[in-house]
Amino acid sequence: MSFFARLRAISFGAVLSLAVTPSRAESALARYIGASSCATASCHGGAGDQRDQWVRWNAKDVHRRSGATLTMARSVQIGAAAGIRDVADDARCTVCHAPFAGVPTAQRIGPLDRGDGVSCETCHGPAEPWIRAHTRTAKDGYTHSDKVAAGLRDLRNPYVRANTCVSCHENVDRELLKAGHPELIFELDGQTAAEPRHWMERTGWDGGRAWLVGQAVALREVSWQLARPGQSDSRLVARQAGLLWVVQRASRAIGLDTFASLAVQSSADKIRVAADDLAKDVASRPWAPGLTAAVLKQLASAAEEFRDAGTPSEIQARRGERLVLALDRLLAASDRALETRLDAEMKELFRLAQSLPDFDPAKFAAALEKFAAKL
Ligand code: HEC
Ligand code: HEC
Ligand code: HEC
Repeated sequence: MSFFARLRAISFGAVLSLAVTPSRAESALARYIGASSCATASCHGGAGDQRDQWVRWNAKDVHRRSGATLTMARSVQIGAAAGIRDVADDARCTVCHAPFAGVPTAQRIGPLDRGDGVSCETCHGPAEPWIRAHTRTAKDGYTHSDKVAAGLRDLRNPYVRANTCVSCHENVDRELLKAGHPELIFELDGQTAAEPRHWMERTGWDGGRAWLVGQAVALREVSWQLARPGQSDSRLVARQAGLLWVVQRASRAIGLDTFASLAVQSSADKIRVAADDLAKDVASRPWAPGLTAAVLKQLASAAEEFRDAGTPSEIQARRGERLVLALDRLLAASDRALETRLDAEMKELFRLAQSLPDFDPAKFAAALEKFAAKL
């Protein structure tokens, strides 16, 4: 079972905070051509690893079905509770589940099928400016950077990729959560592994680095959400505190202290800016060998903090939630033997973090000590 499936029991759940930030080259007014334009056999709808991206997405990717989700009874129920009459046609749902629904006429070239869900251009950027030249290759003297300069989104960069995914994978408005929408938890490395892959990682994807960039970006988004009118509540405050705690410990482990002076009491705005700076910084520098192990060790040695009676249990539970995701991904990024050796301890930590209301900090601390001892 994937760790997301294991964690799903914990939680899982807006308006887009940054609605997939357009890059400098990516014009906010560029036009979309639609997924069917990518589907021919000589393009991305053929056989073989280099030509089958559309086939993989169409057959296996959950994003292909995210529009159809809005026609399910459960969606109608959520809609009814939130006072939304037609969930399949309301921006409060389509913004994430069927993004083509919100593209204005002026930005459409081809037929955009909202039933396509989250499709090629949602992640790679509207195709008009780059479509013609993107079939040229390095052999023709046309590199990945040239394509990016033309407007293709640089998803090889962990910061750019994190921004793309997080826009739909961390924040959901309070009203929708109350109406029964699952809570969302963003974690870049794990969610990248969980999406059926239609690509090869061409520029060394380091799981440890991706994890940290993703958590920093998640912290930025939650901080942004907290500052919005009517969104702040104890649940969100605890989510931010859990993220801040894990990101601070990790940044300390890799020698970045700029973040260390911030506390939960700092303004959400300050935390938002610091989190973004950290994400950019980590994404832009090489991830030296040994850093993953250093972060793993720093996080595993946190047992004492779960015994601190001064920390509210809601915050302890959120720390635990982020910590198990972290340990799981950092182990996956380490060597296989270590992952196998710690399998039982990891399972126990997942079990203890699974239900937020039942979270027992003392038991969690004891299990974490066992994990650390075996590490
Ligand atoms: C435009 C919004 C949007 C973007 C961008 C997006 N997703 Fe999703 N994603 C969704 C929705 C909506 C679902 C739920 C699909 C359903 O079941 O209806 C989902 C589901 C998933 C799932 C399965 C459920 C889970 O959380 O384990 C994974 C994995 C996933 N997305 C990974 C990614 C990754 C990796 C990226 C970035 C490369 C990404 N997504 C970008 C909207 C988005
Ligand atoms: C901020 C982006 C976002 C918005 C807005 C949003 N969703 Fe979702 N929704 C997601 C993601 C991501 C998932 C996948 C969660 C997971 O599996 O971890 C999801 C999951 C779901 C699921 C569960 C699907 C399953 O297979 O379990 C339903 C049902 C759903 N959404 C309906 C809605 C409805 C109805 C609305 C509007 C009232 C809505 N969503 C608004 C992102 C969003
Ligand atoms: C949920 C986000 C998402 C969606 C939807 C998506 N992609 Fe991708 N795609 C990625 C990521 C992440 C990468 C890896 C980074 C890279 O190579 O640019 C990628 C890589 C690729 C690559 C490079 C393959 C390689 O091995 O270098 C191609 C080609 C591609 N996608 C085509 C498509 C097509 C065609 C569609 C629609 C049928 C699609 N993508 C839909 C996220 C997405």
